[in-house]
Order: sequence, then C-alpha cells, then structure tokens
Amino acid sequence: MSVKESQAKSAGTATLTYDNKSYELPALSGTQGPNVIDIRKLYGDADIFTYDPGFTSTASCESEITYIDGDAGILRYRGYPIDQLAQHSNFLEVCYLLLYGELPSAKQASDFDHTITFHTMVHEQLTFLFRGFRRDAHPMAVMCGVVGALSAFYHDSTDINDPRQRVIATHRLIAKTPTIAAMAYKYSVGQPFVYPSNDLGYTENFMRMCFAVPCEEYKVNPVLAKALDTIFILHADHEQNASTSTVRLAGSSGANPFACIAAGIACLWGPAHGGANEAALNMLKEIGDVSRVPEYVSKAKDKNDPFRLMGFGHRVYKNYDPRAKVMRDQCYAVLEELGMHDNPLLKTALELERIALQDDYFIEKKLYPNIDFYSGITLAALGFPTTMFTALFAVARTVGWVAQWKEMVEDPQQKIGRPRQIYTGAAARDYVPVENR
Ligand code: CMC
Repeated sequence: MSVKESQAKSAGTATLTYDNKSYELPALSGTQGPNVIDIRKLYGDADIFTYDPGFTSTASCESEITYIDGDAGILRYRGYPIDQLAQHSNFLEVCYLLLYGELPSAKQASDFDHTITFHTMVHEQLTFLFRGFRRDAHPMAVMCGVVGALSAFYHDSTDINDPRQRVIATHRLIAKTPTIAAMAYKYSVGQPFVYPSNDLGYTENFMRMCFAVPCEEYKVNPVLAKALDTIFILHADHEQNASTSTVRLAGSSGANPFACIAAGIACLWGPAHGGANEAALNMLKEIGDVSRVPEYVSKAKDKNDPFRLMGFGHRVYKNYDPRAKVMRDQCYAVLEELGMHDNPLLKTALELERIALQDDYFIEKKLYPNIDFYSGITLAALGFPTTMFTALFAVARTVGWVAQWKEMVEDPQQKIGRPRQIYTGAAARDYVPVENR
C-alpha cells in the first residue's frame, strides 16, 4: 500500500502537571492553523484521558486537503481560495484537485472528465432496488441504502489494500452518486429514470437526469448550470466536519469505500449539518413575510425557546462564511435569470440577514449567515424540492469524503478510531433476581 510520511513539524513541548507529576508533551505544527499538542502517549504514561465531547479542541488526523480559518472566514482547497475556484474552475476540476492535490493539466482534465463520465451509469439491477422504497421516501433514506448497496455490485473495487481498486472506487462514487440522486428524485415524482448522457458535462448531465422527460427535449440553461456547478464546488469539502469524520471513522475499521460513504450520507442528513439548507428554506416559508422577521429574531434569542435561525452560525466560522458570499451572488444570478428577483423568500432572507447582523445577540455570539442560508432559495428556484437539497449536498460532498478516505487509508499513522469516555454510570453491583427487585 502506498503510504505518506507525516509532514507535521516539531514545535516545542508542553508540560502537563497532574497529581504532582509532570509530563512533557510534544507540540506539532502544520503549514497553517493552530499548533497541536500530541497526547498519543498520555494515557500510557499518565493513565488519564482527555475529555472533548464534540471534538471542539481535538485534531483527529493530519490532512493536506482543506484549510479553514474560521475567525478570518477563510476556506481553501489544497491552498486555493474557495472564491477563486468558484469563479474560475468547475466542479470536475475541483474533484481532481481534491483527490490528487494539484490542478490538472489540460490532458489530465480531459482524461479525468472522460473517466468520470464513463462511470456514470449504474448496474441495471440496481434500478430494482428503488422499487422497494415507498414513493414518498426521503431521497436521503434512498441514498443511504442505494450508495451502501454499491458494494454489493462492484466487488472489483472493494479491496482497500489494492491502490488500483481504491482509485476505481473513488471514480465510481463521484460518477454514480449524481445518477443515484437523480433516480431518487425521479422515483419520488413517479417519472421514468433518465440515463446519463455522455456528451454532457457533469452538472449538465445531472440536471438532465433530474428534469428531462422522454416526451420532450431538455435544454440545459447555462446560467442555472453554472449556479449548480458552483453549489457543488462550494460543498465539495470542508475538512473534518461531522460527516467526513464519520467516513474516516467508518473507514478506519477497513470497511469498503461504498459502505463508508453511505455512513457519511447518514450523518449528513441531520438538520445541524447537511439538512440545514432544507431547514433554512422551511424557516423562511414559515416566517412568510418581511414584517414577521423581528418576531422570529426574538424567538431565536429567547433562551426558553428552542428555535434557532437556520442557516445562521457555524461551529468553525466565527465570521461570514466565505461560501455564503459566493452563494449569495449565485442566488441573485439564478433569480435574475428566471425573472424571480421579487421572490418573497429572498426578501425575507435579506431582511433577516440585515436585522440579525445588527443585533447584539448575534454579534456577540459571532453568528453569521452560513452557506445554507442562500443555497436553499437557489436550489428551490432551480426546481428542486426541499427534500432533494441534502441529497444534492451529498452529491457534491462525495468527492471530499472519498479524498479524505483515500488520504486516511494511505496514512501510516492511521489506526482504528476508538474514542474513550469518562464513565459516570453505576459502579460494580450484583445481579438481583426479578422476584427480589
Ligand atoms: N440561532 C440562534 N442562536 C444560535 C444559533 C442560531 N442559528 N446558533 C448558535 N446559537 C447560539 C446558541 O444558542 C448558543 O448560545 P449560548 O452560548 O447562550 O448557549 C451559542 O450561539 C453557541 O451555539 P452552539 O450550539 O454551542 O454552537 P455550535 O458551534 O455547537 O453549533 C451550529 C453550530 C451550526 C450547529 C449552530 O450554530 C446551529 O444550530 N445553527 C443552525 C443550523 C445551521 O444553520 N447549520 C448549518 C451549518 S453550515 C453547514 C455545514 O457546514 O455543514
């Protein structure tokens, strides 16, 4: 198996004093970002664990893929700023960059496009799986099942110790998740599946698989295709977020990549993660009118009310989410193209953003709009039902997941992920027969 050396550098030591004993802990530095204290030997040496639920202060791996500075509002893939990639690149080129570390040459780009394009069809028998689902099944429920089931169809790319099989699996996943997402959509609306068309680009092909019907010709609108391609770029990777960490954790046991990506899809589904764009749009619909915005801002600030402004706040960004800026521009472009600039949801969103950004509660807690705030409006305007939003996120994030999975498998420091705990349950006690309880 090809393995890579650690790139982290020594950055001095930290001393931990506990129970009258001192322990020297090595500190490490990466290219950018906070240094880390290496506690790998702490348990062995000192018999204590560290406690960090939610991993707010824990680096779980070494990675060269994505860099985020949440305070400065920076997101870079392999060093390239997200706004430059969104403006000048395209999703497949970004996929290549995330997977292989460099922007492709013209020849590499065209070979990669060809490879992905020629893996977009799914095994015909896979189509029968869909018929086992209820028509009103959530597309993410279908995606979890069908993407996981790919491991039952592509046995020739499940050996994670074979580098060639790993490459084929990553290409298959990038190519087939849009086909599966489009099939989930078609199934939910009772329309026939549309096979991929190899003369179209990745995003155009996806739009056609979603929106074409056999009885009329479908023409891809380039403005809308650019917007969706940008959405895919913006969602392609986000370092060690919950779903990516899920993929790495699943993969750390040696599970095959199709199963790992299905695990990532399951995690992404939650409303605090990938489900937030759906939740943000539903919230805007519920608010309904600009005049009700102050009422909802008050609800969000009320400690006794569980309501939160969906599409606001982020675990890492304590500044305007750099993806939200790009998303906002694309949102305007789509609404303009479709003659929907008077869209009431957009008006409500703008007013909500304006009021929240001036409010002390949001300022003090550094709660800014995140990408989901504008992506929901854009996706709805593109014609996707809200239930498809997270599935689209999964399509885009698949490349991030497979790039991170590949990096993990090739990392010599990789071990099975096995967090520990602080146990606060009952101490040892004897079993009591039922008649004595
Ligand atoms: N509306 C109102 N108050 C909020 C919000 C919000 N959207 N987000 C955080 N807060 C408050 C929260 O009540 C807490 O207040 P206090 O300190 O008084 O208890 C404080 O801000 C810190 O919140 P937290 O939950 O401890 O922060 P977190 O880093 O654990 O959570 C979050 C981050 C994204 C889960 C959260 O901000 C949230 O629930 N936002 C709404 C859902 C959302 O938009 N999620 C999409 C994230 S971006 C997509 C992605 O990258 O996956």
